[in-house]
Amino acid sequence: MNRTHTPALPWYEDMGPGSGGLEPRAWYAGSDSGRMSLNGEWRFRLSPGAAAHDESFVRPGFDASGWKKLAVPGHWVLQGAGGAPAYTNVVYPFPVDPPRVPAENPTGDHVRTFDLPGRWPGDGEVVLRFDGVESCARVWLNGQELGHFKGSRLPHEFAVGGLLRAEGNVLAVRVHQWSSGSYLEDQDQWWLPGIFRDVTLLERPQGAPRDFFVHAGYDHRDGSGTLRVECDGAEGRIVLPELGVDVATGEAVTVAVEPWTAETPRLYDGELVTAGERIPLRVGFRTVVVKDGVIRVNGRRVLFRGVNRHEFHPETGRTVDAATMRRDLALMKQHNINAVRTSHYPPHPAFLDLCDELGLWVIDECDLETHGFAGLEWRNNPVDDERWTPALLDRAARMVERDKNHASVIIWSLGNECGSGRGLTAMAKWIRGRDPERLVHYEGDLSCRDVDLYSRMYPAHAEVELIGKRAEEPWGDEELDARRRAMPFIMCEYGHAMGNGPGGLSEYQRLFERYERCQGGFVWEWIDHGIAHPGHGFAYGGDFGEELHDSNFVCDGLLFPDRTPSPGLIEYKKVVEPVRIEPVAGAGACAVRISNGYDFAGLEHLDFVWSYEVDGALVESGALDVPDLAPGASAEVGLPMEGDGVWTVRAVLARDTAWGERGHVVAWGQVEAGAAGAAGAPAAAVGERPERSEGVITLGAGVFDAATGALVRLGAVPVEGLRLDVWRAPTDNDNGAAWEPDERYGLRWRELGLHRMRHRTDAVEVGEDALVVRTRVAPAGVGQGLRTAYRWTADGERLGLTVSVVPEGEWRVPLPRLGIRFGLPAAYGGARWFGGGPGEAYPDTRSASVLGRWQMSVDAMQTPYVRPQENGARADVRWAELTDGSGVGVRAEGGAPFWFTARRWTSEQLDAAEHVTELRAGETVWVNLDHAVQGIGSQSCGPGVLPEYRLDAEAAEFSFVFSATG
Ligand code: GAL
Repeated sequence: MNRTHTPALPWYEDMGPGSGGLEPRAWYAGSDSGRMSLNGEWRFRLSPGAAAHDESFVRPGFDASGWKKLAVPGHWVLQGAGGAPAYTNVVYPFPVDPPRVPAENPTGDHVRTFDLPGRWPGDGEVVLRFDGVESCARVWLNGQELGHFKGSRLPHEFAVGGLLRAEGNVLAVRVHQWSSGSYLEDQDQWWLPGIFRDVTLLERPQGAPRDFFVHAGYDHRDGSGTLRVECDGAEGRIVLPELGVDVATGEAVTVAVEPWTAETPRLYDGELVTAGERIPLRVGFRTVVVKDGVIRVNGRRVLFRGVNRHEFHPETGRTVDAATMRRDLALMKQHNINAVRTSHYPPHPAFLDLCDELGLWVIDECDLETHGFAGLEWRNNPVDDERWTPALLDRAARMVERDKNHASVIIWSLGNECGSGRGLTAMAKWIRGRDPERLVHYEGDLSCRDVDLYSRMYPAHAEVELIGKRAEEPWGDEELDARRRAMPFIMCEYGHAMGNGPGGLSEYQRLFERYERCQGGFVWEWIDHGIAHPGHGFAYGGDFGEELHDSNFVCDGLLFPDRTPSPGLIEYKKVVEPVRIEPVAGAGACAVRISNGYDFAGLEHLDFVWSYEVDGALVESGALDVPDLAPGASAEVGLPMEGDGVWTVRAVLARDTAWGERGHVVAWGQVEAGAAGAAGAPAAAVGERPERSEGVITLGAGVFDAATGALVRLGAVPVEGLRLDVWRAPTDNDNGAAWEPDERYGLRWRELGLHRMRHRTDAVEVGEDALVVRTRVAPAGVGQGLRTAYRWTADGERLGLTVSVVPEGEWRVPLPRLGIRFGLPAAYGGARWFGGGPGEAYPDTRSASVLGRWQMSVDAMQTPYVRPQENGARADVRWAELTDGSGVGVRAEGGAPFWFTARRWTSEQLDAAEHVTELRAGETVWVNLDHAVQGIGSQSCGPGVLPEYRLDAEAAEFSFVFSATG
């Protein structure tokens, strides 16, 4: 019998973390003279498989000049160097047979040559550092193999001093897209192979420490800070001139300090001075503990106004440059975000320097997710298989050692969505042993056995309320249940920002304010991962021909891929604003209550300004005197004039900061006083008589088709298709996710046929003082319908319309919208309105809507969601105009505040489009004036629309008064 010889598993398939590298240590940029970047242009060759092939490229003298040029850091699939990005949320894009990976394993050979700077190498060691390579790399220097590593978003170093020459060094790196490590890196994101972070040579002079660990605690009782720096492999002194500190490494010193918080990121510059090296330090003093079931920093409860941040750039993928990192953080700070979860892997190390500097609480998350095993009942899950534990511990150590000296990092997270298992317990144990001064987080194990805080993703409001009362459902083990109920609670993910939404954020915020245990959350997620694409604008899953993919689930951020804030971010900013400015109930129009919602800061850094407008026109403005309130305190402040309009009070930065300019608005509130503010309801338009002649009916400024009763002209302006409209292009949240328990109304609406409503005209009644058109609006195939009557009246210039709607049959779904739609010629593309603005708003996403007079083009009213869907409504509108360049057009006033939407395509076209580039302006501006619209919710991953924001099909009546402008 023939026996086949089974070769040992290739090295990239063994379960271990790698070989040949150095122990992990703290990251710091290093001095310019002690560092040499190997970023830049490399040569590159892609092979379709990983099977042993030509390794001659690793040797000096190999001629790679015929190979492609490739920018390092970078992903080869984004540089036209072969292959393509692929997106899956949960499933592995290869057969699940751990630790084995497919033979079709794209393998990128990277090579570059370099000379050393003049004085290198000195008498010490030189270290070669990789900050991130996906998913595993084998490395050679001058023909000598250094080793290999896995752990894509973690640092890996090799000692290379002995191998370096003055000139003509050859660094060769073979990168395999798939490896055993891929089983540990099943995060919901694009699969993007390559050397995507920096490659650096670092001098390690003799007498330089191998590593160091800064411990800097703060005692809020007496205002002292205690500093102790452990130094491994050398001795030295810690010098912090500003504090007069000069102490030996290993020794503790206690001095009066200003503490570090995310609100007041006070850092003390200093140095670790050793015989061989002076290492710059930026020390922030702070202490984080759980006490009485609450996370406290420096003795106070903190509230996370957080966001999940993936590293992403639409052109360069997970290669994110320093300017973009700073921009992300400045944008977060400008939008009142105070916390980041580094979902789902440690970020570029320099990002944490910026978090220390600008002030963000950080949950640093390990590069670990095995979500794809969920569909296999978690069989063979690496986190519950001891053979994988060394790889897990290696990942934990690489994160903790690299990032341990950052004041901003207050919580370590074991990873994301790995189920539960012994490997996680081992990681938690190791982390606690190494760094007992921070908390441990992991969401995926409801028992909470390994963690210090209870964390969940996407629970509904009602459940959060139960949790707030420490009364959540038991999990199964009495002791663990009791332990968990005593823990603080956060939502490591909530508010799924996919497409239009998320709705319901302010209702969560109220729960965080009510229940001490609920310490806030982290919106999912910061940025849409749309990849710049010549045909689609931004590409999502499936656009690269992937066999398995999860479509636009990868576009679920508060920023569009190009980093423009989406309405979701504007809403979040308002919902989490750290200062509340509210009308004082019952005290008339002219006072506000100002509450300091910061956890640590006073209001000294803010100026308060007021403005007063009538019908959107500024009447007066000025500064407002507000006392410097302590955190949690509030005060009533009178406004300086009496009046009958809209007061706006803003809290703005009093001085420039590292992230925002003087005058930047941090928080605002409005008081609407009297009828002038509301612009009142228009007087009824009555008195004219409809006249029928030659196929048309004329009523005041309105001309109607005599057969159908449809309005065809208002004054000089042609009007098309004015009628009831209940359809909207379903949002991602309307469509919902298959695993969510609530009804998926986007799908139900389509089943019912709301996108193909038929309008039957039953009567066109020309009366004494009104034209009444009676219709029934219903889709084919079902009995449900909406009896709709349009009652037109006129008083000369003005045309009144009252629409009454009575549902027939049994309606089991809410309506997407209820209002009228009509078309105007394309020239009427200028919008002006008095109401909520400037951006879009829906019933449960309207906190940030500012009442005022707004003006913009119809084009500018569109929100470019990466997958087109309903967008662009303006809330609380009292009147709206659409005009051409000369001011000629149509004005509509609402009998009650209405929702105003205008676009150059129909809802049906919006619905049909898969990418924004498919939306093309036509001959018509389509206008929706809605009496009511359905809320948004966040069911694309989370709870649906709260009951108070449902638009149930019920009898309704609403009215408008139209007139010509110009
Ligand atoms: C969570 C997961 C995230 C992302 C999100 C939905 O389950 O942790 O990575 O997939 O859902 O977008």
